[in-house]
Amino acid sequence: MIVKRVELNDYRNYGRLLVDFSRGINVLCGDNAQGKTNLLESVYFGSVGRSPRTPRDKELIKKGCDRGKIKLTQEDRGGENTVEIYLDRTENKRVAINGMPISRMGELMGVIAAVYFSPDEMRIIKDAPGDRRRFMDIALCRMSKAYFYLLGRYNKILAQRNRLLKSGRATDDVLDVWDAQLAAEGAKIVKTRRGYVERLGAYANEAHGYLTDGKEGLILEYEGFAGEDADEIEKNFSAELMRNRERDKALCFTSCGVQKDDIAVKIGDVDVRAYGSQGQQRTAALSFKLAETELHYAQSGEYPALLLDDVLSELDPFRQRKLIERSKRYQTIITCTHLPAEISSALGEFALYSVRGGTVEKTGKL
Ligand SMILES: Nc1ncnc2c1ncn2[C@@H]1O[C@H](COP(=O)(O)OP(=O)(O)OP(=O)(O)O)[C@@H](O)[C@H]1O
Ligand SMILES: [Mg+2]
Repeated sequence: MIVKRVELNDYRNYGRLLVDFSRGINVLCGDNAQGKTNLLESVYFGSVGRSPRTPRDKELIKKGCDRGKIKLTQEDRGGENTVEIYLDRTENKRVAINGMPISRMGELMGVIAAVYFSPDEMRIIKDAPGDRRRFMDIALCRMSKAYFYLLGRYNKILAQRNRLLKSGRATDDVLDVWDAQLAAEGAKIVKTRRGYVERLGAYANEAHGYLTDGKEGLILEYEGFAGEDADEIEKNFSAELMRNRERDKALCFTSCGVQKDDIAVKIGDVDVRAYGSQGQQRTAALSFKLAETELHYAQSGEYPALLLDDVLSELDPFRQRKLIERSKRYQTIITCTHLPAEISSALGEFALYSVRGGTVEKTGKL
């Protein structure tokens, strides 16, 4: 899949913008604060309906404007499709696919396939478990609408259970009902995520070996309720809920569940989350993302677009070259403030765009 065209209206620092991207590598070059990240963000927003930078959609509307719009045109084996997102200061966002409004955000998943990587994402390895869970959930939601709705159901049940605990009216009878539902939906989530981490782990190991010239391998393990199948996971989850019940009543919230799970990241027997060097953590984060693109390809037969925001400057020259070489498999959109000759020559053929003060000009195909 490739992103052919991005059209923005009153989005971030853009008034009106229309950019056509090339199939291979696209380089967005410009000084600080000109709109490079904003443009990549709009592509990612069209992909998952969520900005990688903020949970508040209203921040995306150009200052001083009441509404904004993103329109993306993609092309895959099936032909062309468009995604339009309308942002409004006073209403929730509205989305249309091929001109038809959608009522559930799940419908958006999978139309624009994009993997976003920035210095912020490099922290995914050392950050709190929540970031790794979000990574996994977003990837799974994009691959499966069923997972998107499953996660929604689980979160709703969890919120209702927490409200009940806070109300002080949590009797064992009522908790039995909520716990059964929570464990049943939670078990499906664990099973799906564990399968995902297993498949992702194989690709991440391959990518990490590639980026480090075979010096290091990466092992990923899902950390959550044990169990071979959903039934067994459900039993373990139920038992844990029961064990924690009195404590949950006292604390007024649910202290166990899939909302606490994590991915263990190891190089050999070293836990990279706690003990990895910064370079190892960055490389491992990049391996996650490259693995995500491969997994997407294995599932759909199409590569997602790879969005690399300011990433090259964070890597040593060897890893920069390896990443550039790898990027040639995908449609890649890279941002940078300047383009050193050695990077330019490693890129080979690419489309170059100059980003300045909310305008984007194609300055050539090199
Ligand atoms: N809602 C908004 N309305 C208007 N301008 C905005 C809005 N949100 C962000 N901006 C501005 O957009 C400008 C460009 O931001 P962006 O993050 O895209 O820069 P960049 O080109 O990626 O720069 P850098 O190289 O520093 O990363 C910034 O000056 C920022 O203040
Ligand atoms: Mg930026």
